[in-house]
Amino acid sequence: MSERRDFFGKALGAFAGLGALGALYAAKRTWDPLPSVKAGGFTTIDVSAAQENVLNTEMWRGKPIFVLKLGKNAKPASAPNGNDANAYDDKRLIEIGGSKYLVAIGLCTHLGCIPAYFGDENKFKCACHGGEFSAAGEVLKSPPPSPLVIPPFKIDGNKLVLGEEGPEYKKMKADGLVA
Ligand code: FES
Repeated sequence: MSERRDFFGKALGAFAGLGALGALYAAKRTWDPLPSVKAGGFTTIDVSAAQENVLNTEMWRGKPIFVLKLGKNAKPASAPNGNDANAYDDKRLIEIGGSKYLVAIGLCTHLGCIPAYFGDENKFKCACHGGEFSAAGEVLKSPPPSPLVIPPFKIDGNKLVLGEEGPEYKKMKADGLVA
């Protein structure tokens, strides 16, 4: 009888262990960064595993870079200038593999704090002085004087190469969307 109890005890322990492992695995998946390779001043990020409305923060030349895949139902951004364009249609978004992404340096354009993303509101909020940005990086609430900065990038299939000026970045430059 005690052998039987031992067996059930062990089986239950193993089952609970597996459950905990599963929970750990699920949690780990949500905080794992996207696969990226750094070489010669470039950071190449494979965005194929990016999940909608989940902010990924990568590093490029010592700066945090936000990579955010937008859902098609991203809420409209209520900008102070009355421009309530849907964030999804913003020209500052980058298209990779049929999905739209915000790629921006993750530093507030006011005094350089790192804003946090609130997925339920589709906006970034800066805790330092209350500035807010849309999911496309546009200013929703001052004091930030300008949108989140888009770093030089190139699209290579499902990969994003930071540090290289590809045709999409050059077009943004010609359109005055990046400096
Ligand atoms: S640094 Fe972000 S609002 Fe001031």
